Amino acid sequence: MHSDTQFVPESRLAMSHTIVIFGASGDLTSRKLIPALYKLHYKGRLPEGTQIVGVSRTEFSHEAWRNQLTESTKAFVGPTFDEASWNEFAKNLYYQKGDIGSTEDFCNLDTFLKEIEGGSCSRVYYLSTMPKLYPIAIEQLGKSGMADQSQGSRLVVIEKPFGTDLKTAEELNERVHKVFAEEFVYRIDHYLGKETVQNLLVMRFGNTIFEPLWNRNYIDNVQITVAEEVAVGKRGGYYDTSGVLRDMFQNHLLQLLMITAMESPVHFKAGMVRDEKVKVLQAIRPMTGADFAQDTVRGQYQGYLDEEGVPKESQTATFAALRLWIDNWRWKGVPFYLRSGKSMSCRTTQIVIQYRSPAHTLFEGHQASGGLDGNRLVIQIQPNEGIQMQIQSKVPDAGMKTKMTQLDFRFDQHFSNDMPDAYQRLLLDALQGDASLFARSDEVELAWGIIDPILGAWNSPAAPQLDIYEPGCWGPQQSSKWIETHGNQWFDVCPIIH
Ligand code: BG6
Repeated sequence: MHSDTQFVPESRLAMSHTIVIFGASGDLTSRKLIPALYKLHYKGRLPEGTQIVGVSRTEFSHEAWRNQLTESTKAFVGPTFDEASWNEFAKNLYYQKGDIGSTEDFCNLDTFLKEIEGGSCSRVYYLSTMPKLYPIAIEQLGKSGMADQSQGSRLVVIEKPFGTDLKTAEELNERVHKVFAEEFVYRIDHYLGKETVQNLLVMRFGNTIFEPLWNRNYIDNVQITVAEEVAVGKRGGYYDTSGVLRDMFQNHLLQLLMITAMESPVHFKAGMVRDEKVKVLQAIRPMTGADFAQDTVRGQYQGYLDEEGVPKESQTATFAALRLWIDNWRWKGVPFYLRSGKSMSCRTTQIVIQYRSPAHTLFEGHQASGGLDGNRLVIQIQPNEGIQMQIQSKVPDAGMKTKMTQLDFRFDQHFSNDMPDAYQRLLLDALQGDASLFARSDEVELAWGIIDPILGAWNSPAAPQLDIYEPGCWGPQQSSKWIETHGNQWFDVCPIIH
Protein backbone atom coordinates (compact mmCIF):
# COMPACT_ATOMS: atom_id res chain seq x y z
CA MET A 1 0.00 0.00 0.00
CA HIS A 2 1.31 3.45 -0.85
CA SER A 3 1.33 6.38 1.48
CA ASP A 4 1.03 9.21 -1.03
CA THR A 5 -2.50 10.22 -0.08
CA GLN A 6 -2.63 13.59 -1.78
CA PHE A 7 0.40 15.52 -0.80
CA VAL A 8 -0.72 19.14 -0.70
CA PRO A 9 1.16 20.82 2.11
CA GLU A 10 -0.24 24.18 3.12
CA SER A 11 3.16 25.72 2.51
CA ARG A 12 3.06 24.62 -1.12
CA LEU A 13 -0.11 26.56 -1.83
CA ALA A 14 1.14 29.74 -0.18
CA MET A 15 4.66 29.60 -1.60
CA SER A 16 5.83 31.03 -4.89
CA HIS A 17 6.59 28.58 -7.65
CA THR A 18 9.15 27.93 -10.32
CA ILE A 19 8.63 25.55 -13.20
CA VAL A 20 11.83 24.38 -14.81
CA ILE A 21 11.33 22.82 -18.23
CA PHE A 22 14.14 20.56 -19.38
CA GLY A 23 13.97 20.11 -23.15
CA ALA A 24 12.80 23.70 -23.59
CA SER A 25 13.64 23.93 -27.27
CA GLY A 26 11.47 20.89 -28.05
CA ASP A 27 8.13 20.69 -29.69
CA LEU A 28 6.13 19.86 -26.56
CA THR A 29 7.28 23.05 -24.85
CA SER A 30 6.12 25.37 -27.61
CA ARG A 31 3.07 23.38 -28.68
CA LYS A 32 1.62 22.37 -25.32
CA LEU A 33 3.39 23.49 -22.15
CA ILE A 34 3.82 27.21 -22.72
CA PRO A 35 0.35 27.69 -24.30
CA ALA A 36 -1.19 25.80 -21.36
CA LEU A 37 0.71 27.88 -18.78
CA TYR A 38 -0.17 31.08 -20.61
CA LYS A 39 -3.88 30.13 -20.68
CA LEU A 40 -3.77 29.45 -16.96
CA HIS A 41 -2.27 32.88 -16.45
CA TYR A 42 -4.88 34.46 -18.73
CA LYS A 43 -7.65 32.85 -16.69
CA GLY A 44 -6.04 34.02 -13.45
CA ARG A 45 -5.35 30.45 -12.31
CA LEU A 46 -1.55 30.38 -12.42
CA PRO A 47 -0.34 31.11 -8.88
CA GLU A 48 0.87 34.68 -8.79
CA GLY A 49 4.56 35.16 -9.44
CA THR A 50 5.06 31.71 -10.98
CA GLN A 51 8.35 31.80 -12.88
CA ILE A 52 9.13 29.54 -15.79
CA VAL A 53 12.67 28.64 -16.71
CA GLY A 54 13.46 26.81 -19.94
CA VAL A 55 16.61 24.71 -20.12
CA SER A 56 18.19 23.11 -23.17
CA ARG A 57 21.48 22.97 -25.02
CA THR A 58 20.55 25.61 -27.59
CA GLU A 59 21.98 29.09 -27.02
CA PHE A 60 19.22 31.66 -26.33
CA SER A 61 18.97 34.88 -24.42
CA HIS A 62 15.89 35.29 -22.19
CA GLU A 63 14.64 37.77 -24.77
CA ALA A 64 15.17 35.52 -27.76
CA TRP A 65 13.35 32.65 -26.04
CA ARG A 66 10.44 34.92 -25.10
CA ASN A 67 10.22 36.19 -28.68
CA GLN A 68 10.19 32.73 -30.11
CA LEU A 69 7.49 31.64 -27.67
CA THR A 70 5.42 34.72 -28.43
CA GLU A 71 5.12 33.59 -32.04
CA SER A 72 4.50 29.92 -31.32
CA THR A 73 1.96 30.63 -28.57
CA LYS A 74 0.08 33.05 -30.81
CA ALA A 75 -0.15 30.30 -33.41
CA PHE A 76 -1.29 27.60 -30.97
CA VAL A 77 -3.65 29.65 -28.85
CA GLY A 78 -5.36 31.32 -31.81
CA PRO A 79 -7.84 34.19 -31.44
CA THR A 80 -7.88 34.04 -27.63
CA PHE A 81 -4.25 35.26 -27.54
CA ASP A 82 -4.19 38.55 -25.67
CA GLU A 83 -1.12 40.72 -26.17
CA ALA A 84 -1.29 42.53 -22.82
CA SER A 85 -1.85 39.38 -20.82
CA TRP A 86 0.95 37.61 -22.71
CA ASN A 87 3.40 40.44 -22.03
CA GLU A 88 2.67 40.23 -18.34
CA PHE A 89 3.13 36.42 -18.46
CA ALA A 90 6.29 36.62 -20.57
CA LYS A 91 8.06 38.75 -17.94
CA ASN A 92 8.31 35.58 -15.88
CA LEU A 93 9.87 33.48 -18.64
CA TYR A 94 13.60 32.85 -18.41
CA TYR A 95 16.06 30.74 -20.30
CA GLN A 96 19.19 29.00 -19.11
CA LYS A 97 21.50 27.08 -21.43
CA GLY A 98 22.33 23.69 -19.97
CA ASP A 99 23.51 20.24 -20.88
CA ILE A 100 21.82 17.34 -19.07
CA GLY A 101 25.19 15.58 -18.86
CA SER A 102 26.93 18.44 -17.05
CA THR A 103 26.78 18.68 -13.24
CA GLU A 104 28.32 22.12 -13.53
CA ASP A 105 25.41 23.29 -15.68
CA PHE A 106 22.98 22.01 -13.04
CA CYS A 107 24.85 23.86 -10.31
CA ASN A 108 24.75 27.04 -12.43
CA LEU A 109 21.07 26.51 -13.01
CA ASP A 110 20.49 26.16 -9.29
CA THR A 111 22.36 29.40 -8.65
CA PHE A 112 20.26 31.15 -11.28
CA LEU A 113 17.04 29.75 -9.82
CA LYS A 114 17.99 30.92 -6.34
CA GLU A 115 18.70 34.39 -7.72
CA ILE A 116 15.29 34.76 -9.33
CA GLU A 117 13.48 33.07 -6.46
CA GLY A 118 15.14 35.09 -3.72
CA GLY A 119 14.17 32.64 -0.96
CA SER A 120 12.06 29.56 -0.33
CA CYS A 121 10.11 28.54 -3.36
CA SER A 122 8.51 25.33 -4.50
CA ARG A 123 9.77 23.93 -7.76
CA VAL A 124 8.39 21.67 -10.47
CA TYR A 125 11.04 20.09 -12.69
CA TYR A 126 9.40 19.10 -15.95
CA LEU A 127 11.30 16.49 -17.96
CA SER A 128 10.43 16.91 -21.59
CA THR A 129 13.78 15.80 -22.98
CA MET A 130 14.54 12.67 -24.98
CA PRO A 131 13.41 9.80 -22.73
CA LYS A 132 16.90 8.29 -22.56
CA LEU A 133 17.98 11.43 -20.70
CA TYR A 134 15.40 11.10 -17.89
CA PRO A 135 17.58 9.05 -15.53
CA ILE A 136 20.59 11.29 -16.13
CA ALA A 137 18.58 14.46 -15.52
CA ILE A 138 17.25 12.99 -12.29
CA GLU A 139 20.70 11.98 -11.10
CA GLN A 140 21.98 15.48 -11.85
CA LEU A 141 19.14 17.01 -9.87
CA GLY A 142 20.20 14.81 -6.99
CA LYS A 143 23.93 15.51 -7.28
CA SER A 144 23.49 19.27 -7.50
CA GLY A 145 21.31 19.34 -4.38
CA MET A 146 18.32 20.49 -6.43
CA ALA A 147 16.12 17.68 -5.11
CA ASP A 148 16.62 18.80 -1.52
CA GLN A 149 13.16 19.45 -0.07
CA SER A 150 14.25 21.83 2.69
CA GLN A 151 13.86 25.09 0.74
CA GLY A 152 10.39 24.27 -0.59
CA SER A 153 9.06 21.16 -2.24
CA ARG A 154 10.72 19.77 -5.37
CA LEU A 155 8.51 17.76 -7.71
CA VAL A 156 9.52 16.07 -10.89
CA VAL A 157 7.09 15.63 -13.77
CA ILE A 158 8.09 12.91 -16.21
CA GLU A 159 6.68 12.75 -19.72
CA LYS A 160 5.80 9.49 -21.40
CA PRO A 161 7.17 7.01 -22.32
CA PHE A 162 8.07 5.80 -18.85
CA GLY A 163 10.37 2.97 -19.92
CA THR A 164 9.97 0.82 -22.99
CA ASP A 165 9.08 -2.38 -21.14
CA LEU A 166 8.67 -3.63 -17.58
CA LYS A 167 12.39 -4.01 -16.98
CA THR A 168 13.32 -0.51 -18.13
CA ALA A 169 10.36 0.99 -16.24
CA GLU A 170 11.47 -0.77 -13.04
CA GLU A 171 15.03 0.44 -13.56
CA LEU A 172 13.83 3.98 -14.16
CA ASN A 173 11.63 3.88 -11.07
CA GLU A 174 14.57 2.65 -9.03
CA ARG A 175 16.81 5.45 -10.26
CA VAL A 176 14.10 8.06 -9.74
CA HIS A 177 13.42 6.86 -6.21
CA LYS A 178 17.10 7.25 -5.28
CA VAL A 179 16.57 10.99 -5.69
CA PHE A 180 12.84 11.66 -5.26
CA ALA A 181 10.38 9.90 -2.95
CA GLU A 182 7.32 8.61 -4.82
CA GLU A 183 5.10 11.45 -3.56
CA PHE A 184 7.28 13.90 -5.50
CA VAL A 185 7.16 11.97 -8.79
CA TYR A 186 4.44 12.91 -11.28
CA ARG A 187 4.29 10.60 -14.33
CA ILE A 188 2.19 12.30 -16.92
CA ASP A 189 -0.42 10.70 -19.14
CA HIS A 190 -2.16 13.53 -20.92
CA TYR A 191 -5.33 11.45 -21.37
CA LEU A 192 -5.99 11.86 -17.65
CA GLY A 193 -5.99 15.63 -18.15
CA LYS A 194 -8.81 15.46 -20.68
CA GLU A 195 -12.06 16.86 -19.32
CA THR A 196 -14.19 13.99 -20.62
CA VAL A 197 -11.97 11.40 -18.96
CA GLN A 198 -12.47 13.17 -15.65
CA ASN A 199 -16.15 13.50 -16.42
CA LEU A 200 -16.33 9.74 -16.64
CA LEU A 201 -15.50 9.68 -12.93
CA VAL A 202 -18.22 12.26 -12.29
CA MET A 203 -20.70 10.40 -14.45
CA ARG A 204 -20.05 7.13 -12.66
CA PHE A 205 -19.65 8.35 -9.09
CA GLY A 206 -21.65 11.59 -9.08
CA ASN A 207 -24.91 10.05 -10.34
CA THR A 208 -27.07 7.29 -8.98
CA ILE A 209 -28.46 5.90 -12.20
CA PHE A 210 -25.36 4.41 -13.81
CA GLU A 211 -23.50 2.68 -11.03
CA PRO A 212 -26.08 0.00 -10.19
CA LEU A 213 -26.04 -1.09 -13.85
CA TRP A 214 -22.26 -0.84 -14.25
CA ASN A 215 -21.41 -4.52 -13.95
CA ARG A 216 -21.57 -8.00 -15.44
CA ASN A 217 -25.29 -8.35 -14.73
CA TYR A 218 -26.20 -5.65 -17.23
CA ILE A 219 -23.18 -5.07 -19.45
CA ASP A 220 -22.45 -7.36 -22.38
CA ASN A 221 -19.12 -5.86 -23.44
CA VAL A 222 -17.09 -2.67 -23.29
CA GLN A 223 -15.28 -1.18 -26.27
CA ILE A 224 -12.57 1.44 -25.95
CA THR A 225 -11.47 2.89 -29.27
CA VAL A 226 -8.79 5.50 -29.84
CA ALA A 227 -8.80 5.97 -33.59
CA GLU A 228 -6.45 8.44 -35.23
CA GLU A 229 -6.83 9.69 -38.74
CA VAL A 230 -3.21 10.81 -38.94
CA ALA A 231 -0.40 8.54 -40.06
CA VAL A 232 2.98 8.49 -38.31
CA GLY A 233 4.19 11.52 -40.26
CA LYS A 234 7.69 12.63 -39.36
CA ARG A 235 7.81 10.42 -36.27
CA GLY A 236 8.56 7.21 -38.21
CA GLY A 237 11.95 6.69 -36.55
CA TYR A 238 10.51 6.84 -33.04
CA TYR A 239 7.27 5.10 -33.91
CA ASP A 240 8.90 2.08 -35.47
CA THR A 241 10.68 1.25 -32.21
CA SER A 242 7.48 1.78 -30.30
CA GLY A 243 4.46 0.63 -32.28
CA VAL A 244 0.89 1.09 -31.21
CA LEU A 245 1.08 -1.06 -28.06
CA ARG A 246 3.83 1.00 -26.46
CA ASP A 247 2.67 4.30 -27.92
CA MET A 248 -1.02 4.10 -27.03
CA PHE A 249 -2.01 0.98 -25.07
CA GLN A 250 0.46 0.83 -22.20
CA ASN A 251 -0.59 4.33 -21.21
CA HIS A 252 -3.69 5.97 -22.70
CA LEU A 253 -5.90 2.94 -23.41
CA LEU A 254 -5.14 1.24 -20.12
CA GLN A 255 -5.84 4.52 -18.31
CA LEU A 256 -9.24 4.70 -19.98
CA LEU A 257 -9.85 1.08 -19.04
CA MET A 258 -8.93 1.72 -15.41
CA ILE A 259 -11.25 4.71 -15.11
CA THR A 260 -14.08 2.75 -16.74
CA ALA A 261 -13.67 -0.36 -14.60
CA MET A 262 -12.45 0.88 -11.20
CA GLU A 263 -14.45 0.83 -7.98
CA SER A 264 -15.34 4.10 -6.32
CA PRO A 265 -12.54 5.40 -4.10
CA VAL A 266 -13.57 6.48 -0.62
CA HIS A 267 -12.39 10.04 -1.29
CA PHE A 268 -11.14 11.79 -4.41
CA LYS A 269 -7.56 11.78 -3.16
CA ALA A 270 -4.50 10.75 -5.11
CA GLY A 271 -3.61 7.67 -3.09
CA MET A 272 -7.16 6.37 -2.96
CA VAL A 273 -7.94 6.96 -6.64
CA ARG A 274 -4.70 5.28 -7.64
CA ASP A 275 -5.24 2.33 -5.29
CA GLU A 276 -8.54 1.62 -7.07
CA LYS A 277 -7.02 1.98 -10.52
CA VAL A 278 -4.20 -0.37 -9.66
CA LYS A 279 -6.69 -3.04 -8.53
CA VAL A 280 -8.15 -3.10 -12.05
CA LEU A 281 -4.75 -3.84 -13.56
CA GLN A 282 -4.14 -6.50 -10.94
CA ALA A 283 -7.40 -8.19 -11.94
CA ILE A 284 -6.62 -8.36 -15.66
CA ARG A 285 -6.24 -12.00 -16.63
CA PRO A 286 -2.69 -12.59 -17.92
CA MET A 287 -2.59 -13.91 -21.47
CA THR A 288 -0.83 -17.21 -22.01
CA GLY A 289 -0.37 -19.75 -24.80
CA ALA A 290 -3.11 -19.61 -27.40
CA ASP A 291 -4.60 -16.41 -25.88
CA PHE A 292 -2.18 -14.23 -27.82
CA ALA A 293 -3.50 -15.49 -31.13
CA GLN A 294 -7.12 -15.55 -29.99
CA ASP A 295 -7.29 -12.30 -28.08
CA THR A 296 -5.16 -9.96 -30.16
CA VAL A 297 -5.25 -8.56 -33.69
CA ARG A 298 -2.38 -6.60 -35.16
CA GLY A 299 -2.31 -4.52 -38.30
CA GLN A 300 -0.18 -2.12 -40.28
CA TYR A 301 -1.51 0.51 -42.63
CA GLN A 302 -0.69 0.27 -46.29
CA GLY A 303 2.12 2.72 -47.00
CA TYR A 304 3.68 2.58 -43.52
CA LEU A 305 6.85 1.02 -44.96
CA ASP A 306 7.32 4.08 -47.19
CA GLU A 307 7.27 6.50 -44.25
CA GLU A 308 10.48 8.35 -43.47
CA GLY A 309 12.58 6.51 -40.86
CA VAL A 310 10.71 3.19 -41.19
CA PRO A 311 12.73 0.13 -42.28
CA LYS A 312 11.34 -1.52 -45.42
CA GLU A 313 10.81 -4.85 -43.70
CA SER A 314 9.26 -3.43 -40.53
CA GLN A 315 6.71 -5.63 -38.75
CA THR A 316 5.67 -2.85 -36.38
CA ALA A 317 1.94 -2.73 -35.69
CA THR A 318 0.21 0.59 -36.30
CA PHE A 319 -3.13 -0.94 -35.26
CA ALA A 320 -4.01 -3.33 -32.48
CA ALA A 321 -7.14 -4.76 -30.98
CA LEU A 322 -7.13 -6.67 -27.70
CA ARG A 323 -9.72 -8.57 -25.74
CA LEU A 324 -9.02 -8.32 -22.03
CA TRP A 325 -10.82 -9.97 -19.13
CA ILE A 326 -11.05 -8.42 -15.69
CA ASP A 327 -11.39 -11.24 -13.21
CA ASN A 328 -13.26 -9.68 -10.32
CA TRP A 329 -16.83 -9.71 -8.98
CA ARG A 330 -17.93 -6.73 -11.04
CA TRP A 331 -16.54 -7.73 -14.42
CA LYS A 332 -16.04 -11.49 -14.57
CA GLY A 333 -17.03 -12.68 -18.05
CA VAL A 334 -17.39 -9.21 -19.62
CA PRO A 335 -14.94 -8.76 -22.50
CA PHE A 336 -13.17 -5.42 -22.68
CA TYR A 337 -12.21 -4.70 -26.27
CA LEU A 338 -9.45 -2.14 -26.74
CA ARG A 339 -8.33 -0.91 -30.14
CA SER A 340 -6.26 1.91 -31.52
CA GLY A 341 -4.55 2.70 -34.76
CA LYS A 342 -3.08 5.32 -37.03
CA SER A 343 -4.51 6.12 -40.46
CA MET A 344 -8.01 5.09 -39.50
CA SER A 345 -11.37 6.42 -40.69
CA CYS A 346 -11.47 9.47 -38.50
CA ARG A 347 -10.22 10.86 -35.22
CA THR A 348 -12.41 9.59 -32.45
CA THR A 349 -11.86 8.39 -28.92
CA GLN A 350 -14.89 6.69 -27.48
CA ILE A 351 -15.88 4.29 -24.76
CA VAL A 352 -18.90 2.21 -25.62
CA ILE A 353 -20.78 0.43 -22.87
CA GLN A 354 -22.85 -2.19 -24.62
CA TYR A 355 -25.68 -3.32 -22.39
CA ARG A 356 -27.27 -6.74 -22.65
CA SER A 357 -30.34 -7.25 -24.80
CA PRO A 358 -33.67 -7.26 -23.02
CA ALA A 359 -34.24 -10.68 -21.52
CA HIS A 360 -37.47 -11.35 -23.34
CA THR A 361 -38.71 -10.28 -26.78
CA LEU A 362 -42.07 -8.52 -26.74
CA PHE A 363 -41.83 -6.14 -29.64
CA GLU A 364 -41.05 -6.27 -33.34
CA GLY A 365 -37.52 -5.27 -34.20
CA HIS A 366 -35.88 -6.76 -31.12
CA GLN A 367 -33.37 -9.48 -31.76
CA ALA A 368 -32.53 -10.20 -28.14
CA SER A 369 -29.18 -11.82 -28.87
CA GLY A 370 -25.53 -11.10 -28.12
CA GLY A 371 -26.21 -7.62 -26.82
CA LEU A 372 -26.56 -6.26 -30.36
CA ASP A 373 -29.94 -4.90 -29.60
CA GLY A 374 -29.28 -3.74 -26.09
CA ASN A 375 -28.88 -0.17 -24.91
CA ARG A 376 -25.64 1.50 -25.59
CA LEU A 377 -23.90 4.29 -23.74
CA VAL A 378 -21.31 6.06 -25.86
CA ILE A 379 -18.86 8.29 -24.04
CA GLN A 380 -17.18 10.42 -26.63
CA ILE A 381 -13.87 11.56 -25.23
CA GLN A 382 -12.90 13.54 -28.33
CA PRO A 383 -13.72 15.40 -30.50
CA ASN A 384 -17.13 17.00 -29.74
CA GLU A 385 -16.96 15.82 -26.16
CA GLY A 386 -20.21 14.34 -24.96
CA ILE A 387 -22.31 11.33 -24.11
CA GLN A 388 -24.98 9.49 -26.05
CA MET A 389 -27.47 7.09 -24.56
CA GLN A 390 -29.12 4.80 -27.06
CA ILE A 391 -32.56 3.54 -26.12
CA GLN A 392 -35.32 1.62 -27.86
CA SER A 393 -38.36 3.73 -28.71
CA LYS A 394 -41.64 3.00 -30.36
CA VAL A 395 -41.83 3.99 -34.01
CA PRO A 396 -44.98 6.15 -34.23
CA ASP A 397 -47.88 4.80 -36.18
CA ALA A 398 -46.18 1.48 -36.90
CA GLY A 399 -47.78 -1.00 -34.58
CA MET A 400 -45.36 -1.93 -31.81
CA LYS A 401 -42.27 -1.64 -33.96
CA THR A 402 -39.23 -0.29 -32.10
CA LYS A 403 -36.14 1.56 -33.17
CA MET A 404 -32.89 2.52 -31.41
CA THR A 405 -32.96 6.28 -30.72
CA GLN A 406 -30.45 8.64 -29.19
CA LEU A 407 -30.28 10.98 -26.24
CA ASP A 408 -27.31 13.31 -26.66
CA PHE A 409 -25.40 15.41 -24.19
CA ARG A 410 -22.76 17.76 -25.56
CA PHE A 411 -20.50 19.67 -23.25
CA ASP A 412 -20.38 22.79 -25.38
CA GLN A 413 -24.16 23.08 -25.36
CA HIS A 414 -24.26 23.17 -21.58
CA PHE A 415 -21.10 24.99 -20.65
CA SER A 416 -19.82 28.11 -22.29
CA ASN A 417 -16.25 27.52 -21.06
CA ASP A 418 -13.64 26.46 -23.57
CA MET A 419 -12.64 22.81 -23.27
CA PRO A 420 -9.15 23.34 -21.85
CA ASP A 421 -6.20 21.43 -23.18
CA ALA A 422 -5.24 18.50 -20.94
CA TYR A 423 -1.93 20.13 -20.01
CA GLN A 424 -3.64 23.05 -18.28
CA ARG A 425 -5.23 20.83 -15.68
CA LEU A 426 -2.16 18.65 -15.25
CA LEU A 427 0.28 21.53 -14.87
CA LEU A 428 -1.96 23.24 -12.36
CA ASP A 429 -2.37 20.01 -10.40
CA ALA A 430 1.40 19.55 -10.34
CA LEU A 431 1.86 23.12 -9.07
CA GLN A 432 -0.70 22.42 -6.35
CA GLY A 433 0.87 19.09 -5.45
CA ASP A 434 -2.15 17.00 -6.41
CA ALA A 435 -1.09 13.70 -7.98
CA SER A 436 -4.59 12.22 -8.49
CA LEU A 437 -4.33 12.47 -12.27
CA PHE A 438 -0.77 11.19 -12.55
CA ALA A 439 0.42 7.61 -12.76
CA ARG A 440 2.04 5.95 -9.77
CA SER A 441 5.08 3.67 -10.04
CA ASP A 442 3.14 0.43 -9.44
CA GLU A 443 0.50 1.47 -11.98
CA VAL A 444 3.09 2.00 -14.69
CA GLU A 445 4.82 -1.27 -13.93
CA LEU A 446 1.58 -3.26 -13.88
CA ALA A 447 0.62 -1.73 -17.22
CA TRP A 448 3.92 -2.85 -18.71
CA GLY A 449 3.33 -6.26 -17.18
CA ILE A 450 0.20 -6.53 -19.34
CA ILE A 451 1.75 -5.22 -22.55
CA ASP A 452 5.15 -6.96 -22.39
CA PRO A 453 3.90 -10.54 -22.88
CA ILE A 454 1.86 -9.42 -25.90
CA LEU A 455 4.90 -7.73 -27.41
CA GLY A 456 6.88 -10.88 -26.71
CA ALA A 457 4.29 -13.11 -28.38
CA TRP A 458 4.11 -10.79 -31.38
CA ASN A 459 7.85 -11.23 -31.83
CA SER A 460 7.59 -15.02 -31.69
CA PRO A 461 6.51 -17.65 -34.23
CA ALA A 462 3.12 -17.79 -32.44
CA ALA A 463 2.37 -14.20 -33.45
CA PRO A 464 -0.97 -13.53 -35.12
CA GLN A 465 -0.59 -12.44 -38.71
CA LEU A 466 0.23 -8.77 -39.32
CA ASP A 467 -2.80 -7.68 -41.36
CA ILE A 468 -2.34 -4.82 -43.78
CA TYR A 469 -5.19 -2.32 -43.89
CA GLU A 470 -6.13 0.47 -46.24
CA PRO A 471 -5.72 3.93 -44.72
CA GLY A 472 -9.07 5.49 -43.94
CA CYS A 473 -10.86 2.43 -42.58
CA TRP A 474 -11.43 0.86 -39.16
CA GLY A 475 -8.20 -1.16 -39.21
CA PRO A 476 -7.77 -4.56 -40.88
CA GLN A 477 -10.85 -6.51 -41.93
CA GLN A 478 -9.63 -9.25 -39.66
CA SER A 479 -10.50 -7.03 -36.71
CA SER A 480 -14.21 -7.07 -37.62
CA LYS A 481 -14.20 -10.79 -38.38
CA TRP A 482 -12.43 -11.48 -35.12
CA ILE A 483 -14.94 -9.65 -32.93
CA GLU A 484 -17.81 -11.26 -34.84
CA THR A 485 -16.51 -14.70 -33.91
CA HIS A 486 -17.24 -13.66 -30.31
CA GLY A 487 -20.82 -12.77 -31.26
CA ASN A 488 -20.05 -9.05 -31.00
CA GLN A 489 -19.60 -6.11 -33.33
CA TRP A 490 -17.40 -3.07 -33.24
CA PHE A 491 -19.19 0.22 -32.88
CA ASP A 492 -17.66 1.70 -36.03
CA VAL A 493 -19.07 5.19 -35.94
CA CYS A 494 -17.13 8.39 -36.49
CA PRO A 495 -17.83 11.07 -33.87
CA ILE A 496 -21.34 10.18 -32.98
CA ILE A 497 -22.13 13.51 -31.45
CA HIS A 498 -21.75 16.40 -33.86
C1 BG6 B 1 0.66 10.42 -27.92
C2 BG6 B 1 1.19 9.45 -28.94
O1 BG6 B 1 0.96 9.99 -26.62
O2 BG6 B 1 -0.75 10.53 -28.06
C3 BG6 B 1 0.82 9.88 -30.35
O3 BG6 B 1 2.60 9.36 -28.84
C4 BG6 B 1 -0.68 10.10 -30.44
O4 BG6 B 1 1.23 8.93 -31.31
C5 BG6 B 1 -1.16 11.01 -29.33
O5 BG6 B 1 -0.94 10.69 -31.71
C6 BG6 B 1 -2.67 11.10 -29.32
O6 BG6 B 1 -3.08 12.08 -28.41
P1 BG6 B 1 -4.45 12.87 -28.62
O7 BG6 B 1 -4.56 13.72 -27.40
O8 BG6 B 1 -4.32 13.63 -29.89
O9 BG6 B 1 -5.51 11.82 -28.71
